[in-house]
Amino acid sequence: MDGMMRSARPGRRGPGVGLFLRRWARNPLQMGSVVPSSPALGRRIARLSRWDGDTTVVELGAGTGAVSRALLAAGLPPERLVVVEIVPEMAAHLRDSLPGVHVVTGDAFDLPRLLPTGLRIGTVICGIPMVLLPLERQRRFVAAVEAVAPGSGFLLYSYCVTSPLPWKQLGLHARREAWTPLNLPPASVWRYRIA
Ligand SMILES: C[S@@+](CC[C@H](N)C(=O)[O-])C[C@H]1O[C@@H](n2cnc3c(N)ncnc32)[C@H](O)[C@@H]1O
Repeated sequence: MDGMMRSARPGRRGPGVGLFLRRWARNPLQMGSVVPSSPALGRRIARLSRWDGDTTVVELGAGTGAVSRALLAAGLPPERLVVVEIVPEMAAHLRDSLPGVHVVTGDAFDLPRLLPTGLRIGTVICGIPMVLLPLERQRRFVAAVEAVAPGSGFLLYSYCVTSPLPWKQLGLHARREAWTPLNLPPASVWRYRIA
């Protein structure tokens, strides 16, 4: 298991809008949006997520934790949520604001190295802006998810009108499962599976 995977401590931090804006100003492509996800988008993602039995939900690019909070509010036990965030400052914020949640500081494209082997995953959720990445990077992401959650695919939320991934070229099935205008910008939730 990666040394940086630790449970979050109880903390007092707020939703982290200022932190999000600062990170967006430094690296807009990495953040993908100007503001954190809305509670409405988080609720839609939570409704589409599964954590049957003893499975875990893995959220990639958790940012300020808006989607994580919606998952917890929907009943996911914190110890069954793993969040991965590449920006150390944001990961620290997640650790402070999401007690009991496993926070991994790292690059989601290295997922097999970051997660404990044998972790049973119910749903993988991706908030990383994928649309502008080259096809080879997108392929690598699909392979990383498939390595840790064979056959389960992933949810990807996006502000694109059409699929943010070229699913046919990536050998995926794609389905838009939800859309909400109650997000800035309005967002869709796509489900992708290996075809
Ligand atoms: C659209 S934002 C997430 C929004 C989040 N739902 C919120 O409300 O704060 C995308 C996040 O993905 C993170 N990210 C980008 N590339 C990443 C990568 N390769 N691995 C892990 N996290 C990444 C960014 O640092 C950012 O926090």
